Amino acid sequence: MYTKKLKLNANFEKLTGNYLFATVSQKVKAYQTNHPHAPLYKLGIGDVSLPVAPVVAHALRQAATEMADIKTVQGYGDYEGLPSLRTAIAQRYGDFRLSPQEIFVTDGAKNSFNHLFELFDFDTVLMPDPVYPVYRDASLLKNKKIVYVHATPANHFLPLPSDIPPHATPHIIFLCSPNNPTGAVYTTAQLLLWVDYALSHKAVILFDGAYRDYIKDDSLPKSIYQIPDAKKCAIEICSFSKSDGFTGLRCGYVVIPQDLLIAQKSVNQLFVRYLATNTNGVSFVVQKAALAALSPEGQAYSDYCINLYMQNAHAMHTTLQSTQAIFVGGKNAPYLWLQSPAHLDGSSFFEQLLHNHGIITTPGAGFGTQGQSYIRLSAFGSATSTQQAVQMIAQYYT
Ligand code: MLT
Repeated sequence: MYTKKLKLNANFEKLTGNYLFATVSQKVKAYQTNHPHAPLYKLGIGDVSLPVAPVVAHALRQAATEMADIKTVQGYGDYEGLPSLRTAIAQRYGDFRLSPQEIFVTDGAKNSFNHLFELFDFDTVLMPDPVYPVYRDASLLKNKKIVYVHATPANHFLPLPSDIPPHATPHIIFLCSPNNPTGAVYTTAQLLLWVDYALSHKAVILFDGAYRDYIKDDSLPKSIYQIPDAKKCAIEICSFSKSDGFTGLRCGYVVIPQDLLIAQKSVNQLFVRYLATNTNGVSFVVQKAALAALSPEGQAYSDYCINLYMQNAHAMHTTLQSTQAIFVGGKNAPYLWLQSPAHLDGSSFFEQLLHNHGIITTPGAGFGTQGQSYIRLSAFGSATSTQQAVQMIAQYYT
């Protein structure tokens, strides 16, 4: 007789409270309830404030019209994504020569990490601390052992293989550049060290490139595949959210090169098999919109939006630089990672900024132990509100 009792996934016990941005959102709602007329300055979640490109909106309408016509209505699409979109994404990689078969369209970066975990049998993951909490939560829920590499002022917030604790043997390595939450960006030489490490230790890098389009300094790598041999050890995860305003539309992609083999087996082919069982692909309407975002008109609009967000980052950078504040980021990234004033920890600073001024930030502790005395500022708000907010923040450092 079968007697085993159904239990809940005990790994939920390992998660700290609610998801970071859900907790912040609850605190902001409580503040708004108590101060219904007070202005809010939004430097919190990395959510875009500008609309999608006109060419994207047009594609959405056109695709909706196709869906309403018996001659053009679309049913299930390819699990891996629209061929035309996969081709357009592959072309983004130019000289680094990726084929459309190496691109998989997803509904955004967040889910991709969970999907990719299903491809490997492993026990240890390595990630920076501070870290985008999704990598940590996904790993904890699957009962993986986590090894952290600390991002601190000493390593300019860019941990390297030399920071890995002795005897750690990670199988999966999370890297994010431009980094969320710190805004620090790896150089080619630094990524080369990670690729060398992964190849020599037979580990796979999951490279989060969600903020790649914020890199305007041509000497910095936008993709892990700019590093020779990265195709043998790295999967890249990207998103249309932050560059093309798709946070509400949901579209991203994963790159799994044909050269990535584990025990002579193709990881790419395994993902093809996995997707067929686990998804029916991304909405046709949204994929058409993503295709429009990659058109010359769409890309020009994306540049325009990123430019506006980066003007906010620049304003914050310049203002904070004129104070004693210690911070990083905001140069090729929409985030700044700011050490709280000497007498405050990051969480108290977050509370003070919210309750004294209506400024929403993100407490660094939510990103890891190394974030206890930090807050994250994001550049996705309006220009006026960002400038006003950073002036108020700067006063804590004078
Ligand atoms: C962020 O603000 O870091 C994220 O993009 C928000 C999220 O993933 O929930």
